[in-house]
Amino acid sequence: MAVLFNQETQVFMLQTQHCAYQMKVAEYGVLLHLYYGQRIDDCDLSYLIQRTDRGFCGNPYEMQQDRTFSLDYFPQEYSCFGIGDYRTDCVKVINSDGSCAVDYRYDSYEIKKGKYRLEGLPSLFAEEEEGETLIIRMKDIHTHMMLELYYGVLENADVITRAARIINGGKAEVVLKRAMSMCLDFPHDHMDWIHFYGKHTMEREVERSRLIHGRQSICSERGTSSHQHNPFVILCDPMCSEDAGDCYGVGLIYSGSFLAEAEVDQFHQTRLVVGTSPDQFSWMLKPGEGFMTPEAVMIYSGEGFTSLSHRFHYMARKHLIRGEWAKKRRPILINNWEATYFNFNGEKLIRIAEEAKELGIEMLVLDDGWFGKRDSDYSGLGDWTVNEKKLGGTLKALAEKINSLGMKFGLWVEPEMISEDSNLYRSHPDWAMRIPGRPGNVARSQFVLDFSRPEVVDGIQDMIFKILDEVHIEYIKWDFNRSISNYFSATLPINRQGEIGYRYMLGLYRFLENLITRYPYILLEGCSGGGGRFDFGMLHYSPQIWCSDDTDAVERLKIHYGTTFGYPVSSIGAHVSASPNHQTGRHTPLETRGTVAMTGTFGYELDLGTLSAEEKEIVKRQIEEYKAHYDLINNGSFYRLSSPYGECRAVAWAFVSPDKEECLFCAVMTKLQSNPDGVVIKLKGLEPKRRYQVEDKVYTGEMLMYGGILLPLPKEEYQAWRYYMRAI
Ligand code: GLA
Repeated sequence: MAVLFNQETQVFMLQTQHCAYQMKVAEYGVLLHLYYGQRIDDCDLSYLIQRTDRGFCGNPYEMQQDRTFSLDYFPQEYSCFGIGDYRTDCVKVINSDGSCAVDYRYDSYEIKKGKYRLEGLPSLFAEEEEGETLIIRMKDIHTHMMLELYYGVLENADVITRAARIINGGKAEVVLKRAMSMCLDFPHDHMDWIHFYGKHTMEREVERSRLIHGRQSICSERGTSSHQHNPFVILCDPMCSEDAGDCYGVGLIYSGSFLAEAEVDQFHQTRLVVGTSPDQFSWMLKPGEGFMTPEAVMIYSGEGFTSLSHRFHYMARKHLIRGEWAKKRRPILINNWEATYFNFNGEKLIRIAEEAKELGIEMLVLDDGWFGKRDSDYSGLGDWTVNEKKLGGTLKALAEKINSLGMKFGLWVEPEMISEDSNLYRSHPDWAMRIPGRPGNVARSQFVLDFSRPEVVDGIQDMIFKILDEVHIEYIKWDFNRSISNYFSATLPINRQGEIGYRYMLGLYRFLENLITRYPYILLEGCSGGGGRFDFGMLHYSPQIWCSDDTDAVERLKIHYGTTFGYPVSSIGAHVSASPNHQTGRHTPLETRGTVAMTGTFGYELDLGTLSAEEKEIVKRQIEEYKAHYDLINNGSFYRLSSPYGECRAVAWAFVSPDKEECLFCAVMTKLQSNPDGVVIKLKGLEPKRRYQVEDKVYTGEMLMYGGILLPLPKEEYQAWRYYMRAI
């Protein structure tokens, strides 16, 4: 049983294969958090809380003369604002009398087989026997505000999910100002936190720092999870490494604005809260109404980051990503964007497809520029009608032609946007999110459509579905190329404008849900100027996400490295592009670009016509190799062997099959030296006593893991090596 309640001690215990999580109903129904870490059996860890009279730490009224019970330092399961816990909190309301306090006390619980799902929001799924649900109900007896805390426990996956529903059980309206998805209190501050920051064309850089007193946070106010910060954080022991140490990963299954905030308090205790960003947020709760937060997923490992990542990868592959493409081998694609940008016509596309087919590529993706008046990024968004003049015929005819070559056909869309210079804008100016009386803020010369309005979502959906009904399209790249600002919705009452961001996400998720339900055969690739919406929310609908608009293989080493802490390789959209690279101007060998793109969904994005005969042979071999190792790469265990931030002159990684029979080792020499030192990389995850064939040599697993591999002397800058190893 994954969820236990001990009537006598009033302790709730959640157990997974390797972890346990504990909370307790304490005096007067206060729900205390007691533990999260290595698996332990039923017990009561509340003795670990120091009960003493601490200065300026008030006490619940019921405690009367007893000053040893204080919400200001006791670990809380879901902390409330305004009642004497001054640390960062989970829930804040404005009651009908103008006061801001809410005081949730335990009411009841329910344990169910199977994992709960959220309505209208992405959440983990599981077979009934794979999970259990605990719902804890809490109440503020003074205002009748209610709270349901949801816990999903996936025992084998070592996953605990959380979400909260805040319900107005009273008779007057209440405004919700803050509703976080989870809270995690630790009795100490011996912790680093790791988060993944970045910018457009350089996402998910790794930053690790010691937690300090006070609040530290990362967030997005951009209406997307953003390039700048990712809704995935790790708290860990300061000594934690890839292979050892306690670490806790928390990911938010949500693609909009978010907040992840850690606080070290006056008694050197740590709290982490994660949820939607409260800054642009408010939600009107009429009597009887409830608000559901997005889901957060928590994973603990006592064995360092590699094991934490493996658990996150497993969770995403098994319990998050949906549809037939979650498991099926994805086609190797050629995308025309970096080959042509807006400058293409039907003939050119067919030429690209023919060349690609010759090399073994399986799908042509037609990127931006095929619709409306769209020969640049100044116009046309919102007009989802085919530019037949440019294509030299219908889209259907083009797709048929591509199909007749034996290739699949895929299409780019950016459904959430509108250009001022578009027919859509001319007929529905109020569909663009813009504050009346202000010109607004343009980015890439476009505005964001108000997806908080169902009729706007439906209008765009109709246009896109019309095309998908007519044309045989087997892949969609769903893009989003700016941040949201100037939030305003023409149809929402003035006192509900704070709901736009969240309603927007509900609109987006509804559209995505409709899309994958109606066209289950379509492979969806998420995108937001590359990796600006690379999160667990989007992954629920799109098995892969274009990882970055930076296709430079060397910069991608860092981007892929950071991304793999939380996200599986099978989700990382990666293409081989031209050299010199269009974003950085860097020259890299074709083999290196292939090696890096293979740590992902693998495809090409360059003018194949410019390749020499020799390069074409390399491309053919890369494609065959990727296909041959597809399972190993996408379903194997991924090991980060050396860090792009470290001293090592090479960045190396490996994929190991679950049975440890096979391994694909990859390395790129990033720093050249004259009279060079040897670069030795130690493998991981192999069977020590087994013998592995590596090209024409045989090594034991222990030789490779404890001794390592000596990289050959490089012949050129950024040389890459791929070694396939097989147990004999
Ligand atoms: C974004 C995407 C690119 C490309 C362009 C097209 O930047 O990330 O891959 O699709 O839009 O405008």
